[in-house]
Amino acid sequence: MFGMADPTRVVVLDHTADLGGAEIALARLLDALPPAEFAVTTILFGDGPLVRLLRDAGHRVVIVPLDPAVRDLARSEAGLGSSALKAALQSGPFLARLAGRIARIRPDVIHTTSLKADLLGMNVAKLTRTPLVWHIHDRISADYLPSRTARVFRALARRVPTEVITNSYATASTLEPIPHLTVAYPGFTPEQLGIPIAINVLPQPRIVGLVGRISPTKGQLEFVRAAAAVLRNRPDVEFRIIGSALFGHEEYERQVRSEISELGLDDRIRLLGFTDDPLAAIDQLSLLVHASTTPEPFGQVIVEAMIRGVPVIATGSGGAQEILDPDPEGELLGLLVPPGDVDALAQAITTVLDHPEDAAERAARAWRSAQDRFPISRTAEVVSEVWRRAARAR
Ligand code: GLC
Repeated sequence: MFGMADPTRVVVLDHTADLGGAEIALARLLDALPPAEFAVTTILFGDGPLVRLLRDAGHRVVIVPLDPAVRDLARSEAGLGSSALKAALQSGPFLARLAGRIARIRPDVIHTTSLKADLLGMNVAKLTRTPLVWHIHDRISADYLPSRTARVFRALARRVPTEVITNSYATASTLEPIPHLTVAYPGFTPEQLGIPIAINVLPQPRIVGLVGRISPTKGQLEFVRAAAAVLRNRPDVEFRIIGSALFGHEEYERQVRSEISELGLDDRIRLLGFTDDPLAAIDQLSLLVHASTTPEPFGQVIVEAMIRGVPVIATGSGGAQEILDPDPEGELLGLLVPPGDVDALAQAITTVLDHPEDAAERAARAWRSAQDRFPISRTAEVVSEVWRRAARAR
């Protein structure tokens, strides 16, 4: 071939422009893709911080607004059974606008990156006769979605998209076996990489933190109760909850706050709210706790702690287990506790505080392992290969 081939045109669809985990993963992925090979346009169904983040990084973003009542439905209500979503799926005007916008781009591939975008993308891909890639960041199971939705979604995943990508083997295992399924771990960027703390010097005073949006599935209440138990013997430790409630979980945040007050621990357990610099927050920690009560699909914040050399305790299921226990024969990269088990969590925190050398050693192993397994260059390679295959299927 002479000269450069035209880039492959890809349209990415996401229903939200809020910065959830999947959106952060998308922003990092787009930065790492080879620009000469792929011309990507991201279409979002509403405005929000992701628009700015992507545009500032030089990416093309188009907003095709969807009725906010549909767009912002809490995830648990996003069932196909929910009348609002049904309405959206059948919403002629929105689909027509979206399909019209996409037809002008003439993409070789449509890539959807949220459950609602998967469903809406299904129809536009059909209308525009474009190969469809579903990038699934959520576990398709009844502990995460209404069980009927999960069932329908699994059936669709087998039949509809040309290719399916999941963010972990844990997420993949919630689907039926699919011929074209690829795991692409969310990656960290070179700028995020830190140096591991030297063995034997966990930062003093000890600060134990949970970083992430506030939601019952993320286990902030369990974290508070475990903190209370640890503080009985170690009153000098500080606990931090970093993040805020998204997706309608403000009531849960109030519950966490009043639990802390009732325990009389306002000065030892601090709710610091949202931060736009999670790495700086993580760097101040002696230990990062990931307390999800339902299995996490992946768990990017765990990797963020690993690449900063901060020890991790996580609940041992789903993506968290996959990240920290990659080799059944090998050594753990962080401590794992059963989900929802407050006593076990308190015990594990005490173990790390009592044995800082062991924790630092695990953290150093985790730092090395993360660099092999989760660099964003690798994510970009895996997704590029899926896009090439999908484009050929045209
Ligand atoms: C979703 C998942 C989270 C994962 C992220 C990136 O937010 O809940 O576990 O880390 O997507 O794939």
